[in-house]
Amino acid sequence: MQKIHAAITAVNGYVPDYVLTNQELETMVDTNDEWITSRTGIKERRILKGEGLATSDLAVPAVKGLLEKRGISAEEIELIIFCTTTPDMPFPATANILADKVGAKNAWGYDLQAACSGFVFGLATGASFIESGRYKKVLVVGGDKMSSIINYQDRATCIIFGDGCGCALLEPNTEGFGILDSVLKTDGSGREFLNMKAGGSLHPATHATVDANEHYAYQEGKTVFKFAVTNMADVAAEVMERNSLQSDDVAWLVPHQANKRIIDATANRMGVNSDKVIINIERFGNTTNGTIPLCLWEWESKFKKGDNLVLAAFGGGFTWGAMYIKWAY
Ligand code: UT7
Repeated sequence: MQKIHAAITAVNGYVPDYVLTNQELETMVDTNDEWITSRTGIKERRILKGEGLATSDLAVPAVKGLLEKRGISAEEIELIIFCTTTPDMPFPATANILADKVGAKNAWGYDLQAACSGFVFGLATGASFIESGRYKKVLVVGGDKMSSIINYQDRATCIIFGDGCGCALLEPNTEGFGILDSVLKTDGSGREFLNMKAGGSLHPATHATVDANEHYAYQEGKTVFKFAVTNMADVAAEVMERNSLQSDDVAWLVPHQANKRIIDATANRMGVNSDKVIINIERFGNTTNGTIPLCLWEWESKFKKGDNLVLAAFGGGFTWGAMYIKWAY
């Protein structure tokens, strides 16, 4: 019997309407368009505005659109893995809330927390359920309402992040298409450089944690940059080597969108030309778990069956990983 691989059979995405430009940020913190553009490549990002709206509300239109595209009903989904760093609530899982909102009545689900590497980790995890033969329709969602944990008085972080969500459906494939390999890593000693200090069991919410701005994302940019630039490139090179992929064999590099300079370094290391590198950071900024599925969604029409895709990510934790996918449609 042919080995079962998990193939992505549909992708979709959603970004909210409100556009937060570098020019508007100039009125909020001491920064400027030139600095942001040259250091990060970001021009604007999307923000989910409105009372009572959370990460699951970014996912609902993305998932509904995916189901429509694939021509299946929500009841057919068996498992939802929701990769997010900004869950609607610490518990219950946002996967459960999403299932309720889209009517995925037969699905079970859980949240996966791996910061910016979440979607790659989620695809790898979802793939195992398909490869084992246990499930036939696994939905992997990556999304964040980063604006809910950003301090818009902290210029080191507020210029980087945006809100957005993407999703992918995994189904079995026995013709050699789909997720073929992944290299996944964590190093918890990096936790001090990129984190949200309070709100967990270590520092539950108190007046003091609020006063100290500890419910916002904190990043030591320079240190994270050094780790990201080396590790994301290393792991992308490793997945190519393990699968005997030469630069010319790679049709698309789908990198996490944290910083254009990190993406360029990864592409250089892989020997991949810039026309094969998917970049939308200038319009969406860093949407954390949303970056990679949003790239897949925006570039979907350009992919051809059999294209070799390499996904690469790096995030808080530290977490990082790369994945080799043979596109299935
Ligand atoms: O997605 C998860 C993983 N995250 C990443 O991969 C992000 C990795 N880090 C980065 O992308 C970059 O470190 C940043 C874009 C966050 C920062 O760029 P940088 O080149 O590392 O700048 P820096 O933090 O070293 O700051 C350089 C200077 C400092 O001023 P002095 O000390 O040289 O006078 C900062 O105070 O730029 C200043 N600065 C700013 N200036 C204008 C910092 N933020 C800003 C700002 N506007 N927004």
